[in-house]
Amino acid sequence: MAPVPKLADRAAECAQRLRSADEVLLASHIDADGLTSAGIATTALERAGIPTTTVFKNQLDDEEIASIAARDFQTVLFTDFGSGQLDAITKHEQQGDFEPIVVDHHQPADAETRYHLNPLLEGIDGASELSGAGASYLLARALEEDEQDNRDLAALAVVGAVGDMQAVGGELVGANRAIVEDGMGAGVLEEATDIALYGKQTRPLPKLLEYADQPQIPGVSGDEAGAIDFLESLGIDLEVDDEWRRWVDLSAEERQTVVSGLVQRGVERGVPADRIDSLVGTSYTLSGEAQGTELRDASEFSTLLNATARYERADVGLAVCLGDREQALERARRLLANHRRNLSEGLEYVRENGVESGETVQWFDADDAIRETIVGIVAGMALGLPGVDRERPIVAFARKSEDERKVSARGTATLVRQGLDLSDAIHTASVAVGGGGGGHDIAAGATIPAARREEFIDRLESAIAEQLA
Ligand code: C5P
Ligand code: C5P
Ligand code: C5P
Ligand code: ZN
Repeated sequence: MAPVPKLADRAAECAQRLRSADEVLLASHIDADGLTSAGIATTALERAGIPTTTVFKNQLDDEEIASIAARDFQTVLFTDFGSGQLDAITKHEQQGDFEPIVVDHHQPADAETRYHLNPLLEGIDGASELSGAGASYLLARALEEDEQDNRDLAALAVVGAVGDMQAVGGELVGANRAIVEDGMGAGVLEEATDIALYGKQTRPLPKLLEYADQPQIPGVSGDEAGAIDFLESLGIDLEVDDEWRRWVDLSAEERQTVVSGLVQRGVERGVPADRIDSLVGTSYTLSGEAQGTELRDASEFSTLLNATARYERADVGLAVCLGDREQALERARRLLANHRRNLSEGLEYVRENGVESGETVQWFDADDAIRETIVGIVAGMALGLPGVDRERPIVAFARKSEDERKVSARGTATLVRQGLDLSDAIHTASVAVGGGGGGHDIAAGATIPAARREEFIDRLESAIAEQLA
């Protein structure tokens, strides 16, 4: 049976159309979700015997779509983007440049096309219930031949969903949940209730706690000696044979001891109960990957992929998705070291320079201090910093070119419940100043003319004030 019945017809139609193609050009987004989408789709197409060429794009704008049209492929499959640019895509379709198949989870533009697989078209949330990789997985399941079983691709779909921060209260829900079950059934995924900190597979134990920022643990977060003292006070051995132990090296009992200790510390030092609850969540483990590697944990895997794609090395990330555990993985690890340094320097920039606050939003302008391809990740992480208000959306600016600025905006689930729709507000405000953008209710981005930044902020403020009124 189809894992997500509401999307079964759309998936089947897209699969049918692809089967009739002699060759396919696959265009996908340059982030963890886009790479896993491409990994899933190319594997499924290859298994179905359909030759595929893959390209990655930062953002699909008119120019990029025109460059795709110029490539002379009759069939173009868009994954993890395309819906937001459907108006521009369908213009090319009408001119007979290519026939599009769009498999995405972003807010669709005002246009229609025949082959369009997007959860939002069937009342499924594209920010928390299905990612681009999840939509691609549904396509893969629809493409499988009788005896072929594409359920092994569920592991990559979960990496994509986690990479797009789709977990709600620490766990995947809705259509994502159905994919998790497929993966467990196929023996490629395990889920467990566990500490929700980043780096369970690879970080030395004290670093795991020292870098914990959501929530901040008083006397532990940001305090190397404090983290070590804390672990020692619980009687946890920190090293074995002169090597740091990692979270995955602890016994179940030791893990329980650390979690209880952290909860107790939080309670004693006045951390709000809901923040303490966020210490525990659901972890998704890729059972087929080696213990203690980035690939075994869905969250670490997704960061590894962002570390390639966001630095013009999507080819490396795709090779890892397709199974290269030697050269490509080695390369990806070097890129990861660089990405982590950039994220930490980016956060340091926000910490030092602070944010400006208006009526409804807060913002910082990193200019060229933070790469435009990662400024959104930094903005999301900055919402956990002391001095940054979690009650209002955060907007980040970075230099895209001499006269263009990249905009990244991030909200919280609480704000979305109060009516926040960043996709709509960012779209409206960016178009009004001669730019363009979109995304999801909780996270959106745009490109705008540098000279109109102030006007953009004013328009965004009033759009958001209206939503939250
Ligand atoms: O293009 P795209 O869908 O990949 O980007 C999703 C972005 O939205 C990610 O950068 C992710 O961090 C952000 N997001 C978020 N909080 C959520 C869901 C998504 O910050 N709850
Ligand atoms: O890079 P990516 O968007 O996948 O990161 C997802 C989350 O993982 C970040 O928001 C951050 O909380 C965490 N992270 C981290 N340290 C890193 C990379 C990511 O804590 N070096
Ligand atoms: O780039 P950033 O991580 O801030 O993107 C957040 C969300 O906004 C992503 O889902 C991305 O695809 C979307 N976005 C968009 N148009 C842009 C920039 C970002 O739809 N010009
Ligand atoms: Zn996505």
